[in-house]
Amino acid sequence: MTAPQRVLVTGGAGFIGSSVVRHLLADSQAKVLNFDSLTYAANLKSLESCSNDARYRFQRGDIRDLAAVKEAFRSFRPTHVLHLAAESHVDRSLTGPQAFIETNVVGTGIMLQAARDYFDSLSGEEKSAFRFLHVSTDEVFGSLEDDGMFTPTTPYDPSSPYSASKAASDHLVRAWGRSFGLPILITNCSNNYGPCQFPEKLIPLMILNAKEGIALPVYGKGDNVRDWLYVEDHARAIWSVAQKGRLGATYLIGGEEERTNLSVVHTICDILDEEVPHADIKDRKSLVEFVTDRPGHDFRYAIDCSATQKELGWSPLESFETGLRRTILWYLNNDPWLESIRSGSYRAWMEENYAWR
Ligand code: NAD
Ligand code: DAU
Repeated sequence: MTAPQRVLVTGGAGFIGSSVVRHLLADSQAKVLNFDSLTYAANLKSLESCSNDARYRFQRGDIRDLAAVKEAFRSFRPTHVLHLAAESHVDRSLTGPQAFIETNVVGTGIMLQAARDYFDSLSGEEKSAFRFLHVSTDEVFGSLEDDGMFTPTTPYDPSSPYSASKAASDHLVRAWGRSFGLPILITNCSNNYGPCQFPEKLIPLMILNAKEGIALPVYGKGDNVRDWLYVEDHARAIWSVAQKGRLGATYLIGGEEERTNLSVVHTICDILDEEVPHADIKDRKSLVEFVTDRPGHDFRYAIDCSATQKELGWSPLESFETGLRRTILWYLNNDPWLESIRSGSYRAWMEENYAWR
């Protein structure tokens, strides 16, 4: 009998990381260590369904802290590392870029240093099974015009401090693979949406504002295009790459669901008008306000993920229409999750429910 897989997930209390943790516990036999420093973007309420699972452990820790990261490797002895911890919001990187350099670049460097030392200490099957998967973004490739798609060979051309910091981290990961033989994999994915996303990002922000009947701030003319992927489809893709991906390879992941921002916002308004009509506002689309554009705003992202689909047999299960309705219904029905973010009470809840390990 083979030993169970042991998956160290960094950033597992965030939006995508929590979906990855839930996926691993539901659809694999793996043991999971969630290593997360709990920034503003984290919410352990997203993992309430996992907290009593004997295969799950949470450790509060910072990826910039080499000693803490090394200790996590030493005590947990992972077969796989899924590295998601990052500062993830483009707008915040414009007002405070330093945190992005520290976490996304320096923190990834620390993860690589600890992973290399650990990998070098392994032998036999443990060594040949080990994988370090770095979760990255399509934003490293910069902006597209009306035509064309990103492929695994598109040159890097990041525009924001966020995407530049992710590009730097991708280069570090590749370098540790080429120079030190660390068995790495990289995924570059398009815009995710779904339950448990911090409401600073376009879709949850628009759902909550439109529900309340307050202004919907659309940058520029709303004609920028993003490709949308339901978060659970991303979580499945990450685990599939970690298990079946070729060493050193890059996998592009996308939803093949391109939409202008304005059309996304309009669709959210239409679904909310249908599900929860507002007493005073007949058509929530009237709430749209065109505001000053984001500096360096990439015009369009589009992903050619046919190679990933063909090689791994993965494809998205959720269409944008079904996924968006599911997401809206989740935000309408999960006031306690939202309240915990708004009031900060989730921090107290975490203190009560978790002895920090
Ligand atoms: P998020 O902001 O929701 O969550 C990030 C998590 O990382 C949080 O739980 C936070 O506490 C943790 N974290 C931050 N700094 C840390 C540190 N120094 N040490 C330990 N933990 C730390 O992010 P997300 O949207 O879930 O994105 C996860 C990853 O996926 C990121 O690497 C991001 O670049 C990448 N990605 C995101 C998207 C997207 O659409 N959201 C798309 C493609 C790739
Ligand atoms: O492409 C993948 C990336 O998608 C991830 O790497 C990032 O972590 C993630 O945050 C996301 O980046 P974006 O900048 O595309 O996501 P955001 O939700 O911030 O914005 C989506 C689009 O909507 C973008 O064109 C800007 C626009 N926008 C956003 C906000 C918050 C608005 O028009 N109004 C808004 O209030």
